Amino acid sequence: MKLIAGSASQSLTEKISTTVNLPIVKTQIKRFPDGELYIRILENIKNQEIIIIQTTYPDENIIELFLLLDAVKRAEARKITVIIPYFGYARQDKQFKEGEPISAAALARLISTLADNIITVDPHKEHILDFFTVPAKSVSAVNPIASYLVDKQIDMVLAPDHGALARATQAANQLHCEVDYLEKTRLDGSTISITPKNLAANGKTVAIIDDIISTGGTMAEAIKQLHSQDVKKIYVACTHGLFAGSAIKKLQEAGCEEIIATDTIQTQFSTVSVTSAIEEMLS
Ligand code: R5P
Repeated sequence: MKLIAGSASQSLTEKISTTVNLPIVKTQIKRFPDGELYIRILENIKNQEIIIIQTTYPDENIIELFLLLDAVKRAEARKITVIIPYFGYARQDKQFKEGEPISAAALARLISTLADNIITVDPHKEHILDFFTVPAKSVSAVNPIASYLVDKQIDMVLAPDHGALARATQAANQLHCEVDYLEKTRLDGSTISITPKNLAANGKTVAIIDDIISTGGTMAEAIKQLHSQDVKKIYVACTHGLFAGSAIKKLQEAGCEEIIATDTIQTQFSTVSVTSAIEEMLS
């Protein structure tokens, strides 16, 4: 078995390579003067089992994944597994309005034409795994996030919306603390509203845990709710830190102790690694 690192997941691939003791295949990835991508596999991988690791965000990394898949297929690899640390477009997992695509299905269907096996981390909804026409499994980043929070003396884990409650409950169980959730309504892509709720957060240290931070609107509103209830400290944690636009500023201005994300998307906030979760799936 050998690994291939997509540009979006270089550092995670290096960590996985060290942990599971698998070599990384040498590749060349560059851009033509007009911006088009060029990739080349620089080793013989005929009859080898290959694991490509590539987050499908932003869009350019989707193209790169397809080129890597095509090259690996043409190089006659025996089996191709794709690890997608962050599966972009997963939030369009159904037709919300007439005329829309199911973007997650469109991507999954195309990836399945070239891959034999898929592993992803905390997909927005588990049912998107069914869009792949080859075996697809997910691993959870909740354990590594909760492990990171262990020494922060968390009194309560808060899910910023009902969809995040299962993850929050899992983290709260690991941290032996209470759990609660907020009711969120999404008004548009960058605006949400949260129904005020008495969380009995007075004097408590609270970790708000979600799968994604995109614009930061959800977390910022949840933070505001907590501050209005005289909370002691707030940690915000997510699996996938997209941090679009002024998300970081929004979170910092709302007032939190620390922003925590994993390395499914490598940023300055990737203090938690999903390596152990992926390793378990590979062993
Ligand atoms: C939505 O249901 C997700 O779980 C996140 O809550 C959402 O993607 C966060 O987006 P934003 O940071 O833009 O509020």
